[in-house]
Amino acid sequence: VTQRTLSIIKPDAVAKNAIGEIVSRFEKAGLKVVAAKMLHLSDDKAGGFYAEHKERPFFKDLVGFMTSGPVVVQVLEGDDAIAKNRELMGATNPKEAAPGTIRADFAETIDANAVHGSDSPESAEREIAYFFDTDEICPR
Ligand code: CMP
Repeated sequence: VTQRTLSIIKPDAVAKNAIGEIVSRFEKAGLKVVAAKMLHLSDDKAGGFYAEHKERPFFKDLVGFMTSGPVVVQVLEGDDAIAKNRELMGATNPKEAAPGTIRADFAETIDANAVHGSDSPESAEREIAYFFDTDEICPR
């Protein structure tokens, strides 16, 4: 079933100049970019995005990291896009990520883990709307 998912290329991967290599992995796996923008998140924008983690001990570091440099936010579309993107990313902790996944290849730590991807259809819907107006998404 065709789905959309929200992807964020995080500040560590942008700083490594790995935007193109990461997008290439999405495209080679059959995911299409239907919306994209580069942003330098404010504390409020990053904190709102990760509101579900507000009470977690890593929240402050997470927001600090996500605001440390620009990110690339994209909507990816394709068959089973949410699970497919999560397979491409690998485990949240790069030390546990399978070989050949984005996090295994580009990430160092659980905080600086290169990419974010929506974890369910409900999250995808919320996260896409958090960053994109309907008219910024280009069906193709
Ligand atoms: P992400 O998929 O963007 O969602 C929340 C982020 O919090 C996660 O990736 C990690 O980068 C970061 N994080 C830091 N510590 C933890 C932890 N113990 N468990 C889960 N996520 C963590």
